[in-house]
Amino acid sequence: MNKIPKNMRGVYLNGHGGLDKLEVRDDIPVPTLGSHEVLIRVGAAAVNNTDINTRLAWYSKSGGASDDASWSGNTIHFPRIQGADVCGRIVAVGEQVSLSRLNERVLVEPCIREAHSEILELPWYFGSECDGGFAEYTAVASRHAYQVNSKLSDVELASFPCSYSTAENLLTRANVTANDVVLITGASGGVGSASVQLAKARGAKVVGITSLSKSNKVLSLGAEQVLMRSDSVVQRLGENSVDVVIDLVAGKKWPDLLGVLKPFGRYAVAGAIGGSHVELDVRTLYLKDLSFFGCTVLEENVFANLIKRIESCEISPVVARTFPLIQLADAQSFFETKQHVGKLVIDLTDGE
Ligand SMILES: NC(=O)c1ccc[n+]([C@@H]2O[C@H](COP(=O)([O-])OP(=O)(O)OC[C@H]3O[C@@H](n4cnc5c(N)ncnc54)[C@H](OP(=O)(O)O)[C@@H]3O)[C@@H](O)[C@H]2O)c1
Repeated sequence: MNKIPKNMRGVYLNGHGGLDKLEVRDDIPVPTLGSHEVLIRVGAAAVNNTDINTRLAWYSKSGGASDDASWSGNTIHFPRIQGADVCGRIVAVGEQVSLSRLNERVLVEPCIREAHSEILELPWYFGSECDGGFAEYTAVASRHAYQVNSKLSDVELASFPCSYSTAENLLTRANVTANDVVLITGASGGVGSASVQLAKARGAKVVGITSLSKSNKVLSLGAEQVLMRSDSVVQRLGENSVDVVIDLVAGKKWPDLLGVLKPFGRYAVAGAIGGSHVELDVRTLYLKDLSFFGCTVLEENVFANLIKRIESCEISPVVARTFPLIQLADAQSFFETKQHVGKLVIDLTDGE
């Protein structure tokens, strides 16, 4: 096993703001380990909206103020190394962790319940309230580093954690089964493309909403039908036609999503890329006996189930493009154009 250096290359987020807040450094101290932690040599780390949302202070409910801009509504401390999606190998273990874990190939569970060898009162998100994977090494509690046995590359594996666990969590909360027709918004995106595959794996009939250039890809992932973003879903599908809505977009057309839900339908949401303020007619909610599920903290077993689905090849990675670590700002910039299907992944073996 290679010797662990004192310093490493990584990308610091130095504050809320533009891409200029990202700084590539070669002198970042390699994390020191708490007793229950493992040190991971990062092979690949995927890009997520949360990296950009955090940089822009989008989570701040007080209008971009910097003191409530984390997922949990707390202050983000800078410099921060972002990156929620990590695939790598364990290269060192804390004193309470079995040496047998050394050299395990792992995926990090991004919803963190333990950090710095303490159980957290409220979960953190990896790369948000603590440092994440946009660096050569990262540290995490051993329980959040899941061994994965797979022929997929690090880049492919790094496309799974955040998007697929969010998707599996949405489907779990909404209790999606083979009897359901499921409508998925943002179906070409990281979470959307994962939701299409995972809903299909449960035997559900999937309808995806996307844009024209991405529709064939969404169909190939398992959707039986695709609608365009510009379509009226009520006109295309009819009122009371779907059992479950998996929503990642929200925005102006949100009332239609409740219109197409059948009585006793389930609405599960984990994102609002189309706009976070929506118009709710409360009568629709109660007269149709709808159930709403807000989904961020992962249900127990969601990540373990995801690892099983990866190992049994039930789901496939959707990697649109890779970038070397030093081009993280370019990757974020490209990510914001939303031209791609699936994930953008930082390949830490590129440019070494
Ligand atoms: N709560 C959680 O745990 C959690 C975890 C991960 C992500 N999220 C959130 O979930 C949402 C989706 O994440 P993701 O990673 O799947 O996103 P993504 O990969 O960026 O994909 C989002 C897709 O949504 C579609 N879209 C529809 N309306 C849009 C609009 N007004 N602006 C931009 N895109 C629009 C676009 O596809 P088309 O061009 O095909 O329409 C876009 O590619 C984000 O809001 C993200 O922050 C939440």
